[in-house]
Amino acid sequence: RAARFTLDRAFTVGEVDRRLFGSFVEHLGRCVYTGIHEPGHPAADSAGLRTDVLALVRELGVTAVRYPGGNFVSGYRWEDSVGPVGERPRRLDLAWRSTETNRFGLSEFIGFLGKLGPQAEPMLAVNLGTRGVAEALQLQEYANHPSGTALSDLRAEHGDKDPFGIRLWCLGNEMDGPWQTGHKTAQEYGRLAAETARAMRQADRDVELVACGSSNQGMETFAAWEATVLQETYDLVDYISLHAYYEELDGDRDSFLASAVDMESFIENTVATCDHVGARLKSKKRINLSFDEWNVWYMRRFHAEFEAGPPDWPEAPRLLEDSYSVTDAVVFGSLLIALLRHADRVTVACLAQLVNVIAPIMTEPGGPAWRQTTFFPFAQAARYGRGEVLDVRVDSPTYATAQYGEVPLLHATAVRDPETGGVAVFAVNRDQRRPLPVRIGLRDLDLAEVVEHTVLADADPEARNTLDDPGRVAPHEGRGAVLSGDELGVELEPLSWNVIRLA
Ligand code: AHR
Repeated sequence: RAARFTLDRAFTVGEVDRRLFGSFVEHLGRCVYTGIHEPGHPAADSAGLRTDVLALVRELGVTAVRYPGGNFVSGYRWEDSVGPVGERPRRLDLAWRSTETNRFGLSEFIGFLGKLGPQAEPMLAVNLGTRGVAEALQLQEYANHPSGTALSDLRAEHGDKDPFGIRLWCLGNEMDGPWQTGHKTAQEYGRLAAETARAMRQADRDVELVACGSSNQGMETFAAWEATVLQETYDLVDYISLHAYYEELDGDRDSFLASAVDMESFIENTVATCDHVGARLKSKKRINLSFDEWNVWYMRRFHAEFEAGPPDWPEAPRLLEDSYSVTDAVVFGSLLIALLRHADRVTVACLAQLVNVIAPIMTEPGGPAWRQTTFFPFAQAARYGRGEVLDVRVDSPTYATAQYGEVPLLHATAVRDPETGGVAVFAVNRDQRRPLPVRIGLRDLDLAEVVEHTVLADADPEARNTLDDPGRVAPHEGRGAVLSGDELGVELEPLSWNVIRLA
């Protein structure tokens, strides 16, 4: 039978915040070095930024970019990353057992964002693992104070006369995780985050602050952690963070394809926890969600390799360089759908990460840059997911999964651009073998034509783009989407990500 849903202009979830299409640059592996920054590369500009990568990042359409970590931030000494490059110290990076040269730092990162265009904004993390309130304040003064103080004048002396104007700040990273350098209990972190937030607001009332939530929904402390941290910080922060990575485990592809079930419940459970604390505090304020790390990541494989050998502190090693298949891209698209479906509360999200490290863009040192399969769903969602998310209640045939029970074969959302009246439907067919007929009722939307139906699917679900064959996978045109009166009929290919644009 066909899957069905109805779109009605009157029933909306909320407006898509452009920050939902954020990403993440961490000093990890080759994300920075030989990823975005490679002086001497034939495509490098005068700042050593790879212009081939810049072009792909622009095409991807990222907005907020989180920096400099990740686990890296818990050992980050911001002052090492500024000033004359030749004088910057080399440091051990405990998180990734690497040597950090600091050849690329804060000023270079802001320069990189400047070349992406006005939609790109920094999202800076402060170190609350091995450091605290004082260092966060110093970094804020260096970055944002106009002039006339020791640290703002130092920035000018370093060549950056204009302040960086960073509004969005993360108060540490994954502080609930025992792997984090300087890991803390919820009570310890909650107090530190509250005092850091209070001090940063004393310096600048307009900062937007993200408190660390859970590193994934499976953490033993999940929900209790958020409740304790928010009890301490509710009036002082704007967001709580969520992180989640998904992978196919033990050949269970059916469950993997349903990963968004976990992501949606993680979001809904976090919203419930935030609102519970708000109710207890009798507060009218609403805490929003910053899903500032999400992706497909073959983490089990990574841990097996990473933990095997002793650290030898290499510079920019090849780490977390997952190569993504069509199947991975379909799951990835479904994760994007999950974020859009909760656009009322998820107002910041960062695809982790941007280049080489579990990334939509890959590079070869001295060689080319190319798009992974996951590049396409992200670029399309960032481009066409503008406006108001419509409330999509799917009635779909289901399939059985070991991890999530019965799951709908269809996962979908739709976004209406109020300026043009156009609607973009994003849909995934989780059925690995059969096409899925879908009927979409269109109420009060004034839509006259199917502008485009693109599909990411392949006869080989393992197909991927590689250095040797970088153009193997790309979206193709869908066939047979028919708009008749107030109904759209379409058949979705097996295991596919679809974008249907209506005007
Ligand atoms: O994105 C890779 C790592 O995953 C980040 O450094 C950390 O925050 C998370 O565990």
